[in-house]
Amino acid sequence: MNAPDPTQCRWHVYADKAALQDAAVSAILDSAALSIRERDRFNLVLAGGETPREIYQRLRSAPTDWSLWHIYFSDERCVPPTEAELNSHMAGEAWLDHVPIPRTQIHIIPSGPRADKAAEEYAQTLRGVDPFDLTLLGLGKDGHTASLFPGNEWGVAPDSPDTLAVFNSPVRPPQRVTLSVARLNRSRQIIFLVSGESKRRAVARWRAGEHIPARAIMGENGVDVLVESSLLS
Ligand code: 6PG
Repeated sequence: MNAPDPTQCRWHVYADKAALQDAAVSAILDSAALSIRERDRFNLVLAGGETPREIYQRLRSAPTDWSLWHIYFSDERCVPPTEAELNSHMAGEAWLDHVPIPRTQIHIIPSGPRADKAAEEYAQTLRGVDPFDLTLLGLGKDGHTASLFPGNEWGVAPDSPDTLAVFNSPVRPPQRVTLSVARLNRSRQIIFLVSGESKRRAVARWRAGEHIPARAIMGENGVDVLVESSLLS
């Protein structure tokens, strides 16, 4: 990774998905080692969606002190707790159910029918967790990230709430909870994981400077975007 620059969006290009996943696993473990060395704790925010699945699976065998990891989520779908489409369900099945991170240190966003109630509850969970050490994010084909969608409130102003309730997601389910831009930006490091042909247009819009939600994200030391080379040609 390049030297951190608070204003820079750094694009890291990889020949294929496997190389991107290798880089992501290394970056996550490097961030964990640094945070644990400096603060005896690693506050990590997980991206939802499918892109991170194999990266999470590969973390199962990581040589690390899991007792110092604290897991948070960038967003969650408001569906019954048994639903497989929950981001916390994917992370658990792929990784968290297979490592000894204390269950009290895995902070899932409450699922269920009420996005506004879940958002309020999660805002309480986030109190005092500032900044995150590393935030992982995905990119939607419309340029969304987390559950920050075009045309909605993104919570950019520094005094924005930490969490937002979404009732009109264009990607099912309609109700979601998302961390705000302001809260996501309070991260020492932010890494986007961008893979898959469906992201081509969103990547082009982002690099052309268009006002998409992903572009509003800027951590304390900039942003690192891991992207497959095929999406840039
Ligand atoms: C979600 C995610 C969302 C996701 C992107 C990319 O709940 O869906 O938080 O922001 O990261 O939509 O999803 P894929 O990785 O499945 O392409």
